[in-house]
Amino acid sequence: MEEISLTINGKHISCLPGTSILNAALENSIKIPTLCHHPHLEPIGACRLCLVEDEKSGRIMASCVTPASPNMVICTDSTTIKEHRRNIIRLMMANHPESCIVCSQGNRCELRRIAAELGVGELRLYPMPHYTGLEEANPFLIRDLSKCILCGKCIRADHELVVVGAIDYNLRGFKSRPATVHEMPLEKSNCTFCGTCVSMCPTGALSAKNPRYVGSPQKESSTICGFCGVGCSLVMGSVDGQIVEVNPSHQEGTVNGPTLCIRGHFTHDFLNVPERLTTPLIRRDGELSPSTWDDALEVVAEGLISIKKKHGPQSVAFLGSSKCTIEENYLFQKIARVGLGTNNVDNGSYGLGRAIVDRVNEKLEGGGCVTPLAGLEKAELVFVIGANPTQSLPVVGYYIKRASRVRGIPLIVVDPREIELVPFSTMWLPLVPHTDCELINSLAAILYKSNAYDIDFINRFTGGFDLYSSTLSSLDLQRMSRVTGVDMEVMEKAANVIEGKRIAFVIGHGILQQRYGAAAMDAILNLALMTGSLGGEGKGLFFLATENNQVGAWNMGAVPDLLPGRQSLRNDMMRKQWEQAWEVKLSPDPGLNMVRMIEEAGKGNLKAFYVMGENPRRSLPQPERITNALGNLELLVVQDILATETTQMADVVLPGAAFSEKGGTFTNLEGRIQSFEQVVSPPGDAKPDWEILDLLLGKMGYSKKYSSLQEIRAEISQLVPMYSGLRSSREASWVREASAMRLFRPDGVGEPIHFSPVTSTDAKTYQKEYPFKAILGSVPYHLGSGTRTGRSNRIKEFGLRGEVEISPEDGARLNLKEGDHVRISSPYGQISREVMLKKGLRPGLIFIPMAFHNNDARHLIELSRLGVVDSPGWKECQVKLEKIED
Ligand code: SF4
Ligand code: SF4
Ligand code: SF4
Ligand code: FES
Repeated sequence: MEEISLTINGKHISCLPGTSILNAALENSIKIPTLCHHPHLEPIGACRLCLVEDEKSGRIMASCVTPASPNMVICTDSTTIKEHRRNIIRLMMANHPESCIVCSQGNRCELRRIAAELGVGELRLYPMPHYTGLEEANPFLIRDLSKCILCGKCIRADHELVVVGAIDYNLRGFKSRPATVHEMPLEKSNCTFCGTCVSMCPTGALSAKNPRYVGSPQKESSTICGFCGVGCSLVMGSVDGQIVEVNPSHQEGTVNGPTLCIRGHFTHDFLNVPERLTTPLIRRDGELSPSTWDDALEVVAEGLISIKKKHGPQSVAFLGSSKCTIEENYLFQKIARVGLGTNNVDNGSYGLGRAIVDRVNEKLEGGGCVTPLAGLEKAELVFVIGANPTQSLPVVGYYIKRASRVRGIPLIVVDPREIELVPFSTMWLPLVPHTDCELINSLAAILYKSNAYDIDFINRFTGGFDLYSSTLSSLDLQRMSRVTGVDMEVMEKAANVIEGKRIAFVIGHGILQQRYGAAAMDAILNLALMTGSLGGEGKGLFFLATENNQVGAWNMGAVPDLLPGRQSLRNDMMRKQWEQAWEVKLSPDPGLNMVRMIEEAGKGNLKAFYVMGENPRRSLPQPERITNALGNLELLVVQDILATETTQMADVVLPGAAFSEKGGTFTNLEGRIQSFEQVVSPPGDAKPDWEILDLLLGKMGYSKKYSSLQEIRAEISQLVPMYSGLRSSREASWVREASAMRLFRPDGVGEPIHFSPVTSTDAKTYQKEYPFKAILGSVPYHLGSGTRTGRSNRIKEFGLRGEVEISPEDGARLNLKEGDHVRISSPYGQISREVMLKKGLRPGLIFIPMAFHNNDARHLIELSRLGVVDSPGWKECQVKLEKIED
């Protein structure tokens, strides 16, 4: 497109047609004051502060909503303009309350800053403050709308960025204010307390509720959120070495832009709780007592080495953390493999469906590791299956809602429950749980019958389509409709929506943690191949990763069967390269995975267990079994930031630093590698995990020591091709895909990707005495088992009860009403919960939110492992319900 030329403040500039005068000026470093403008929001021209003058016509206009025209001559700071701006600010100040002086926004208030810049002194106007009273009943944010200047940023953030629609303009003229429907308090609205509006508010009208501190923080530092796999970019404000507030970083090109979710914004108060570990502890005479680092590490090193000598390397195991950094995971698996000669190393993501993603990765030969979420807003069709991102990874939910509502991209949701994305969808396919495989195969069969497949893609890149398509042709679609519970007509309509489009599949734990998830995943991959939906922007497979560094821990080889860079232990060439680099002999045999570690401890075969940043007594199924297994060990070492159910049983406790108290690198679910620096110091004697591991290597007599994070990063970037772009700077880089696959190469030379056979998981049997299917799922207030978010005072104060959701039909049958209590029993245990009747839930299906009541839902599931079924299946179970009479 040809650029246009204009003049601003005597400077000749050019810009693309359609660019606003404001943006044209900003792109050329010409500053214009604004209050309602934000680069991520649609301009509305509300504040009129960005007025500029057209020197040719004398016209005065709001530059944020006026497009630049060819040959315009604009002045941004004429005397007239400045006087207009001063008057606007005077009017705003006259409407403002006196509480300005003690406002929590403090010196960061944009209204005050602009007033000072414009030299607004005496108001010379009669004060007309508009007192509204404070709204502060919820523990997250305070609204003092007497300070509102009606810039509309909060409303636009709510509508355009997080697409919730909790607030809108209410009333008119002088009384107009952003409000919820019927002016209900926020906690009674559909507000998710993401805080995005708070970070955008230019005044103190919206602020984070902070019981410990009011005012501007002493220091603000950028880092990466330590909760989920999105890896949002944050700015943490601290006072006297404690985090007092969190905001999105507002840097360019981050995954989250100006948004966050409730966890990232408000639950970091868990970092300051009294349960933080501050000193190493050693168990003496049955009690954990404080010790020096030297003594504690001596006990650990001697214990590990002597147990290995006595019982062999298989008697020692290492459970690392998908919450720790890549540098720490690299060192952790190195201690296991090099220091102790064992491949018994895993991390908590085992239970989150790693094996299924691993399978896809193998099929794609390492391709598809980089899937920028921005692609969702450029897709032809978004297909969400087994995923509830608005709850589990809210920022992914924002992307999908924007794709649908703002960009008009078709959205198909496949889920047994009417999840929050359903009202945004073009179609909802409410299938019977566990029938994803049958549903996807049916859609593929309908598409095949209508010749709606990408034959060019299939011929160039795939193999085995003939066999696949002939099996599809023989599918009994009427039967599939009965099995899946989805009407034929609905399936046909969905196929119609898909026809001719490349698909962006968003795949969540409903598939990854499903017992028969591998079969469902094969079906999805087949559909992706058939529709040409792999390779390139706006299509492909978007796997949801629960933990912040789940992908990084995997990439660093903190898993029993892969070396760093996802290189197979069984591959002689790759193993030899690592043997040379580390100067050791490595066993080609995969070690124990997380569940097998527990099993072997239970049998008495595992003697020493080193747990870093995991809390298996709270996070794993069948907690009594875990407790018994850990009780059998000769040495249990737990390295963590908090005193947990697992540290209670440890022989040695090593206090680690939280992500904000150390430097490091996380890899998010997109394959984005993000390094970050320390924000505050760790409490007491706690140390960054990499430093603890490095000291331990020294104690174990390993000659290679690392004096800095940079040295570890240098080793990783040199030895792990995927991370050759790893830099120490804060600028993000991306995982380098190892794939030699032709899909991702323009020359198209390479092995074809084969269609998998069409299978069915229809032969499942359920025990009749447990007639309900329970889905165990996430809520945005907690992450995982809630070890961290459960410690947040704000979350505690909010008083959520974690009710079980039951359909009104089942409620009527069991004589249950809202607020009643039920006993929920499975073959493995029982819990009790308050009842919530949920419209739209399929009868026979119930939903139990995880993390509540010390994550008691894990009593209902079995500590099953891979190899027996496709996935541990920790997402659902069969249960019975009994009303608990008062
Ligand atoms: S509350 Fe803040 S962001 Fe919202 S309209 Fe008022 S001043 Fe603007
Ligand atoms: S906190 Fe989030 S959901 Fe609530 S009103 Fe603000 S932007 Fe909307
Ligand atoms: S929890 Fe996830 S979505 Fe929420 S702010 Fe942190 S990284 Fe972002
Ligand atoms: S910034 Fe243009 S009208 Fe507010």
